[in-house]
Amino acid sequence: MSAEAISVDPVGAALPITFAPRLIEWQRHSGRSGLPWQNTRDPYRVWLSEVMLQQTQVSTVLSYYPRFLERFPDVRALAAALPDDVMALWSGLGYYSRARNLHRCAQAVVRDHHGVFPDTAEQLETLPGIGASTAAAIAAFCHGERISILDGNVRRVLSRLLAFEGDLAQAGPQRELWSLAQALLPEAPTREDMTAYTQGLMDLGATVCQRTKPLCGRCPVQMMCRAHGTDQISRFPVKTRRVARRFENWWLLLVRGTGADGQQAFWLERRPAPGIWAGLYCPPVFADEPALQASLSSGFARRLQPLEPVSHSLTHRELRLHPLLLDLREGQESDGLPEGQWVPAGALIDHGLPTPVRQLLSALS
Ligand code: ADE
Repeated sequence: MSAEAISVDPVGAALPITFAPRLIEWQRHSGRSGLPWQNTRDPYRVWLSEVMLQQTQVSTVLSYYPRFLERFPDVRALAAALPDDVMALWSGLGYYSRARNLHRCAQAVVRDHHGVFPDTAEQLETLPGIGASTAAAIAAFCHGERISILDGNVRRVLSRLLAFEGDLAQAGPQRELWSLAQALLPEAPTREDMTAYTQGLMDLGATVCQRTKPLCGRCPVQMMCRAHGTDQISRFPVKTRRVARRFENWWLLLVRGTGADGQQAFWLERRPAPGIWAGLYCPPVFADEPALQASLSSGFARRLQPLEPVSHSLTHRELRLHPLLLDLREGQESDGLPEGQWVPAGALIDHGLPTPVRQLLSALS
Protein backbone atom coordinates (compact mmCIF):
# COMPACT_ATOMS: atom_id res chain seq x y z
CA MET A 1 0.00 0.00 0.00
CA SER A 2 1.54 3.36 -0.92
CA ALA A 3 1.85 6.13 1.63
CA GLU A 4 -0.17 8.39 -0.66
CA ALA A 5 -3.12 6.03 -0.85
CA ILE A 6 -6.27 7.87 0.09
CA SER A 7 -9.95 7.22 0.48
CA VAL A 8 -12.77 9.71 0.23
CA ASP A 9 -14.85 9.84 3.38
CA PRO A 10 -18.52 10.84 3.71
CA VAL A 11 -17.61 14.50 4.39
CA GLY A 12 -15.85 14.58 1.05
CA ALA A 13 -12.27 14.92 2.28
CA ALA A 14 -9.43 12.74 1.03
CA LEU A 15 -8.02 10.63 3.86
CA PRO A 16 -4.75 8.73 4.14
CA ILE A 17 -5.81 5.08 4.43
CA THR A 18 -2.49 3.89 5.83
CA PHE A 19 -2.81 6.14 8.89
CA ALA A 20 -4.48 3.54 11.13
CA PRO A 21 -2.21 0.55 10.37
CA ARG A 22 0.90 2.70 10.74
CA LEU A 23 -0.26 4.15 14.02
CA ILE A 24 -1.10 0.70 15.40
CA GLU A 25 2.28 -0.68 14.44
CA TRP A 26 4.09 2.31 15.88
CA GLN A 27 2.16 2.08 19.17
CA ARG A 28 3.02 -1.60 19.55
CA HIS A 29 6.75 -0.96 19.04
CA SER A 30 7.34 2.56 20.30
CA GLY A 31 4.26 3.68 22.23
CA ARG A 32 3.89 3.83 25.98
CA SER A 33 3.39 0.52 27.75
CA GLY A 34 3.40 -0.55 31.36
CA LEU A 35 1.39 2.38 32.69
CA PRO A 36 -0.75 1.09 35.59
CA TRP A 37 -4.03 1.64 33.73
CA GLN A 38 -2.89 -0.21 30.62
CA ASN A 39 -3.33 -3.97 30.23
CA THR A 40 -6.69 -3.94 32.00
CA ARG A 41 -10.18 -4.11 30.59
CA ASP A 42 -11.80 -3.21 33.88
CA PRO A 43 -14.01 -0.20 33.04
CA TYR A 44 -13.70 1.17 36.60
CA ARG A 45 -9.91 1.35 36.35
CA VAL A 46 -9.93 2.71 32.81
CA TRP A 47 -12.59 5.29 33.64
CA LEU A 48 -10.71 6.47 36.75
CA SER A 49 -7.45 6.86 34.79
CA GLU A 50 -9.14 8.73 31.95
CA VAL A 51 -10.81 11.18 34.32
CA MET A 52 -7.56 11.75 36.23
CA LEU A 53 -5.63 12.21 32.97
CA GLN A 54 -8.11 14.71 31.49
CA GLN A 55 -6.25 17.79 32.70
CA THR A 56 -3.34 16.27 34.58
CA GLN A 57 0.04 14.97 33.48
CA VAL A 58 0.85 11.27 33.52
CA SER A 59 3.69 11.83 36.02
CA THR A 60 1.27 13.34 38.57
CA VAL A 61 -1.45 10.74 38.01
CA LEU A 62 1.07 7.95 38.61
CA SER A 63 1.12 8.72 42.33
CA TYR A 64 -2.60 9.51 42.77
CA TYR A 65 -4.01 6.56 40.82
CA PRO A 66 -2.76 3.66 43.03
CA ARG A 67 -3.64 5.54 46.24
CA PHE A 68 -7.18 6.13 45.00
CA LEU A 69 -7.60 2.48 43.97
CA GLU A 70 -6.26 1.21 47.25
CA ARG A 71 -8.88 3.21 49.12
CA PHE A 72 -11.71 2.66 46.60
CA PRO A 73 -10.94 -0.62 44.79
CA ASP A 74 -14.23 -0.78 42.89
CA VAL A 75 -17.20 1.28 41.86
CA ARG A 76 -19.31 0.16 44.84
CA ALA A 77 -16.64 1.26 47.32
CA LEU A 78 -16.45 4.66 45.63
CA ALA A 79 -20.22 5.06 45.49
CA ALA A 80 -20.45 4.38 49.25
CA ALA A 81 -17.69 6.88 50.14
CA LEU A 82 -18.24 10.18 51.90
CA PRO A 83 -17.83 13.12 49.47
CA ASP A 84 -15.17 14.60 51.78
CA ASP A 85 -13.07 11.43 51.59
CA VAL A 86 -13.18 11.47 47.78
CA MET A 87 -12.18 15.13 47.80
CA ALA A 88 -9.30 14.45 50.20
CA LEU A 89 -7.83 11.84 47.85
CA TRP A 90 -8.25 14.21 44.90
CA SER A 91 -6.67 17.09 46.74
CA GLY A 92 -3.85 18.57 44.63
CA LEU A 93 -5.07 17.20 41.29
CA GLY A 94 -7.12 20.36 40.61
CA TYR A 95 -10.30 20.75 38.55
CA TYR A 96 -12.33 19.53 41.50
CA SER A 97 -15.60 19.20 39.59
CA ARG A 98 -13.98 16.01 38.24
CA ALA A 99 -13.96 14.52 41.75
CA ARG A 100 -17.57 15.52 42.44
CA ASN A 101 -18.68 14.01 39.12
CA LEU A 102 -16.59 10.90 39.72
CA HIS A 103 -18.49 10.26 42.93
CA ARG A 104 -21.88 11.01 41.30
CA CYS A 105 -21.02 8.76 38.39
CA ALA A 106 -20.12 5.84 40.69
CA GLN A 107 -23.45 6.31 42.47
CA ALA A 108 -25.32 6.35 39.15
CA VAL A 109 -23.58 3.14 38.02
CA VAL A 110 -24.57 1.39 41.26
CA ARG A 111 -28.11 2.82 41.35
CA ASP A 112 -29.06 2.61 37.67
CA HIS A 113 -26.78 -0.12 36.24
CA HIS A 114 -26.47 -2.70 39.08
CA GLY A 115 -22.87 -1.63 39.68
CA VAL A 116 -21.71 -2.48 36.14
CA PHE A 117 -20.56 0.21 33.70
CA PRO A 118 -22.55 0.11 30.45
CA ASP A 119 -20.69 -1.33 27.43
CA THR A 120 -21.22 1.23 24.70
CA ALA A 121 -19.83 4.74 24.32
CA GLU A 122 -23.36 5.98 23.66
CA GLN A 123 -24.61 4.74 27.05
CA LEU A 124 -21.43 5.69 28.91
CA GLU A 125 -21.86 9.28 27.75
CA THR A 126 -25.15 9.54 29.64
CA LEU A 127 -23.28 9.22 32.97
CA PRO A 128 -22.17 12.26 35.02
CA GLY A 129 -18.76 13.66 34.01
CA ILE A 130 -18.26 11.28 31.07
CA GLY A 131 -17.92 13.30 27.87
CA ALA A 132 -17.82 11.93 24.33
CA SER A 133 -14.06 11.40 24.23
CA THR A 134 -13.85 9.71 27.65
CA ALA A 135 -16.81 7.47 26.74
CA ALA A 136 -15.03 6.51 23.51
CA ALA A 137 -11.77 5.76 25.35
CA ILE A 138 -13.52 3.44 27.84
CA ALA A 139 -15.53 1.65 25.13
CA ALA A 140 -12.49 1.24 22.86
CA PHE A 141 -10.08 0.09 25.61
CA CYS A 142 -12.51 -2.22 27.44
CA HIS A 143 -14.72 -3.56 24.66
CA GLY A 144 -12.88 -2.84 21.41
CA GLU A 145 -15.68 -0.60 20.16
CA ARG A 146 -14.80 0.99 16.82
CA ILE A 147 -15.03 4.61 17.93
CA SER A 148 -12.54 7.45 18.00
CA ILE A 149 -11.45 9.52 20.95
CA LEU A 150 -11.06 13.24 20.27
CA ASP A 151 -9.54 15.08 23.21
CA GLY A 152 -7.41 18.21 22.85
CA ASN A 153 -4.24 16.26 21.98
CA VAL A 154 -5.98 14.19 19.31
CA ARG A 155 -7.59 17.28 17.78
CA ARG A 156 -4.12 18.72 17.39
CA VAL A 157 -2.76 15.52 15.81
CA LEU A 158 -5.63 15.15 13.33
CA SER A 159 -5.89 18.81 12.43
CA ARG A 160 -2.19 18.76 11.50
CA LEU A 161 -2.43 15.43 9.69
CA LEU A 162 -5.29 16.71 7.53
CA ALA A 163 -4.33 20.43 7.54
CA PHE A 164 -7.86 20.92 8.83
CA GLU A 165 -8.78 24.59 8.34
CA GLY A 166 -11.99 24.65 10.41
CA ASP A 167 -12.04 26.82 13.53
CA LEU A 168 -12.09 24.39 16.46
CA ALA A 169 -13.54 27.05 18.74
CA GLN A 170 -16.81 26.45 16.83
CA ALA A 171 -19.19 23.51 17.16
CA GLY A 172 -19.59 22.88 13.39
CA PRO A 173 -15.89 22.30 12.64
CA GLN A 174 -15.58 20.25 15.85
CA ARG A 175 -18.31 17.92 14.58
CA GLU A 176 -16.64 17.76 11.17
CA LEU A 177 -13.30 16.78 12.69
CA TRP A 178 -15.09 14.15 14.75
CA SER A 179 -16.52 12.52 11.65
CA LEU A 180 -13.08 12.64 10.02
CA ALA A 181 -11.67 10.95 13.14
CA GLN A 182 -14.30 8.21 12.73
CA ALA A 183 -13.42 7.81 9.05
CA LEU A 184 -9.72 7.37 9.93
CA LEU A 185 -10.39 4.38 12.25
CA PRO A 186 -8.94 0.98 11.30
CA GLU A 187 -11.28 -0.85 8.97
CA ALA A 188 -12.16 -4.09 10.75
CA PRO A 189 -10.24 -3.87 14.01
CA THR A 190 -9.81 -6.58 16.61
CA ARG A 191 -10.13 -5.54 20.26
CA GLU A 192 -6.36 -5.43 20.49
CA ASP A 193 -6.20 -3.20 17.39
CA MET A 194 -8.62 -0.73 18.97
CA THR A 195 -6.56 -0.67 22.17
CA ALA A 196 -3.33 -0.01 20.26
CA TYR A 197 -4.97 2.54 17.95
CA THR A 198 -6.57 4.51 20.79
CA GLN A 199 -3.42 4.45 22.90
CA GLY A 200 -1.43 5.33 19.74
CA LEU A 201 -3.47 8.49 19.20
CA MET A 202 -2.84 9.50 22.81
CA ASP A 203 0.85 8.64 22.68
CA LEU A 204 1.42 10.44 19.39
CA GLY A 205 -0.21 13.62 20.77
CA ALA A 206 1.61 13.47 24.10
CA THR A 207 5.10 12.41 23.06
CA VAL A 208 5.61 13.38 19.38
CA CYS A 209 3.01 15.78 17.98
CA GLN A 210 3.37 18.18 20.88
CA ARG A 211 1.84 21.65 20.93
CA THR A 212 5.19 23.40 20.69
CA LYS A 213 8.30 21.92 19.10
CA PRO A 214 6.72 18.74 17.71
CA LEU A 215 9.22 15.95 17.04
CA CYS A 216 8.28 15.40 13.39
CA GLY A 217 11.48 13.41 12.76
CA ARG A 218 10.11 10.69 15.05
CA CYS A 219 6.57 10.71 13.71
CA PRO A 220 5.31 7.46 12.16
CA VAL A 221 2.88 9.33 9.88
CA GLN A 222 5.10 12.24 8.90
CA MET A 223 5.02 11.22 5.21
CA MET A 224 1.24 11.66 5.08
CA CYS A 225 1.00 14.76 7.33
CA ARG A 226 -0.32 17.66 5.28
CA ALA A 227 0.76 20.35 7.74
CA HIS A 228 4.30 18.95 7.71
CA GLY A 229 4.27 18.56 3.93
CA THR A 230 3.50 22.25 3.47
CA ASP A 231 5.68 23.35 6.40
CA GLN A 232 2.74 24.82 8.27
CA ILE A 233 2.71 22.83 11.53
CA SER A 234 2.40 25.93 13.71
CA ARG A 235 -0.81 27.01 11.91
CA PHE A 236 -2.73 23.98 13.20
CA PRO A 237 -4.99 23.49 15.04
CA VAL A 238 -6.90 26.60 13.98
CA LYS A 239 -8.65 28.04 17.03
CA THR A 240 -9.72 31.68 17.19
CA ARG A 241 -11.07 32.02 20.71
CA ARG A 242 -8.56 32.23 23.50
CA VAL A 243 -9.57 31.78 27.11
CA ALA A 244 -9.09 35.18 28.74
CA ARG A 245 -7.90 34.72 32.32
CA ARG A 246 -9.32 37.24 34.72
CA PHE A 247 -6.95 38.58 37.33
CA GLU A 248 -8.24 38.41 40.90
CA ASN A 249 -6.79 39.29 44.31
CA TRP A 250 -7.81 37.23 47.33
CA TRP A 251 -6.92 38.02 50.95
CA LEU A 252 -6.62 34.90 53.08
CA LEU A 253 -7.01 34.93 56.85
CA LEU A 254 -4.59 32.28 58.12
CA VAL A 255 -5.28 31.61 61.78
CA ARG A 256 -2.92 29.24 63.59
CA GLY A 257 -3.68 27.95 67.08
CA THR A 258 -2.62 25.17 69.39
CA GLY A 259 -4.95 22.37 70.46
CA ALA A 260 -5.38 20.92 73.95
CA ASP A 261 -2.98 18.12 72.88
CA GLY A 262 -0.33 20.71 71.99
CA GLN A 263 -0.86 20.11 68.25
CA GLN A 264 -1.01 23.04 65.87
CA ALA A 265 -4.32 23.66 64.15
CA PHE A 266 -5.65 25.98 61.44
CA TRP A 267 -8.96 27.81 61.18
CA LEU A 268 -10.55 26.75 57.88
CA GLU A 269 -13.92 27.12 56.20
CA ARG A 270 -15.47 24.97 53.51
CA ARG A 271 -15.68 26.86 50.24
CA PRO A 272 -19.28 27.39 49.11
CA ALA A 273 -20.72 25.74 46.00
CA PRO A 274 -20.87 26.72 43.24
CA GLY A 275 -17.60 28.59 42.85
CA ILE A 276 -13.84 28.24 42.89
CA TRP A 277 -12.62 25.33 45.06
CA ALA A 278 -16.23 24.45 46.00
CA GLY A 279 -16.33 21.96 48.89
CA LEU A 280 -12.59 22.27 49.66
CA TYR A 281 -11.19 23.55 52.96
CA CYS A 282 -9.59 26.98 52.81
CA PRO A 283 -8.74 29.84 55.16
CA PRO A 284 -11.52 32.48 55.08
CA VAL A 285 -11.26 34.55 51.87
CA PHE A 286 -11.84 38.30 51.51
CA ALA A 287 -11.93 40.68 48.55
CA ASP A 288 -9.58 43.17 50.22
CA GLU A 289 -7.60 43.76 53.39
CA PRO A 290 -10.09 46.10 55.13
CA ALA A 291 -12.83 43.45 54.70
CA LEU A 292 -10.53 40.83 56.25
CA GLN A 293 -9.73 43.13 59.20
CA ALA A 294 -13.42 43.95 59.69
CA SER A 295 -14.21 40.24 60.11
CA LEU A 296 -12.06 40.11 63.27
CA SER A 297 -12.36 41.60 66.71
CA SER A 298 -10.05 44.64 66.98
CA GLY A 299 -7.65 42.78 69.29
CA PHE A 300 -7.07 40.12 66.65
CA ALA A 301 -6.91 42.59 63.75
CA ARG A 302 -3.93 44.36 65.34
CA ARG A 303 -1.94 41.10 65.46
CA LEU A 304 -2.09 40.25 61.73
CA GLN A 305 1.24 39.58 59.98
CA PRO A 306 1.38 39.78 56.18
CA LEU A 307 3.07 36.79 54.46
CA GLU A 308 4.57 36.60 50.96
CA PRO A 309 1.82 36.72 48.26
CA VAL A 310 1.40 33.60 46.10
CA SER A 311 0.18 33.34 42.48
CA HIS A 312 -2.01 30.49 41.26
CA SER A 313 -3.50 29.92 37.80
CA LEU A 314 -6.91 28.38 37.21
CA THR A 315 -8.58 27.81 33.85
CA HIS A 316 -10.29 31.19 33.75
CA ARG A 317 -8.60 33.03 36.61
CA GLU A 318 -5.20 34.21 37.63
CA LEU A 319 -5.34 34.32 41.42
CA ARG A 320 -3.04 36.44 43.54
CA LEU A 321 -3.29 35.19 47.12
CA HIS A 322 -2.35 37.56 49.97
CA PRO A 323 -2.07 35.56 53.22
CA LEU A 324 -2.29 37.38 56.56
CA LEU A 325 -1.30 35.32 59.57
CA LEU A 326 -2.99 35.57 62.93
CA ASP A 327 -0.89 33.46 65.28
CA LEU A 328 -2.86 32.64 68.44
CA ARG A 329 0.06 30.58 69.81
CA GLU A 330 -1.50 29.25 73.02
CA GLY A 331 -5.02 27.87 72.76
CA GLN A 332 -7.71 27.79 70.13
CA GLU A 333 -10.30 30.49 70.57
CA SER A 334 -13.17 30.78 68.13
CA ASP A 335 -14.82 33.94 69.40
CA GLY A 336 -13.97 36.96 67.28
CA LEU A 337 -13.15 34.86 64.20
CA PRO A 338 -15.27 34.61 61.02
CA GLU A 339 -17.10 31.36 60.27
CA GLY A 340 -14.91 28.24 60.20
CA GLN A 341 -13.59 25.29 62.19
CA TRP A 342 -10.30 24.16 63.70
CA VAL A 343 -8.47 21.50 61.69
CA PRO A 344 -5.41 19.97 63.43
CA ALA A 345 -2.22 20.11 61.31
CA GLY A 346 -2.01 16.30 61.51
CA ALA A 347 -5.50 15.95 60.00
CA LEU A 348 -4.86 18.20 56.98
CA ILE A 349 -3.91 15.11 54.96
CA ASP A 350 -7.50 13.82 55.28
CA HIS A 351 -9.02 17.09 54.08
CA GLY A 352 -9.47 18.31 50.53
CA LEU A 353 -7.28 21.41 50.27
CA PRO A 354 -6.41 23.45 47.16
CA THR A 355 -2.72 23.03 46.28
CA PRO A 356 -1.55 26.57 47.14
CA VAL A 357 -3.37 26.39 50.50
CA ARG A 358 -1.74 23.04 51.27
CA GLN A 359 1.64 24.58 50.49
CA LEU A 360 1.00 27.65 52.62
CA LEU A 361 -0.15 25.58 55.60
CA SER A 362 2.64 23.05 55.39
CA ALA A 363 5.16 25.89 55.40
CA LEU A 364 3.60 27.02 58.69
CA SER A 365 3.21 23.67 60.43
N1 ADE B 1 -4.11 10.56 28.54
C1 ADE B 1 -5.41 10.26 28.52
N2 ADE B 1 -5.59 8.94 28.55
C2 ADE B 1 -4.36 8.38 28.61
C3 ADE B 1 -3.88 7.05 28.67
N3 ADE B 1 -4.72 6.04 28.68
N4 ADE B 1 -2.54 6.87 28.73
C4 ADE B 1 -1.71 7.91 28.72
N5 ADE B 1 -2.10 9.17 28.66
C5 ADE B 1 -3.42 9.42 28.61
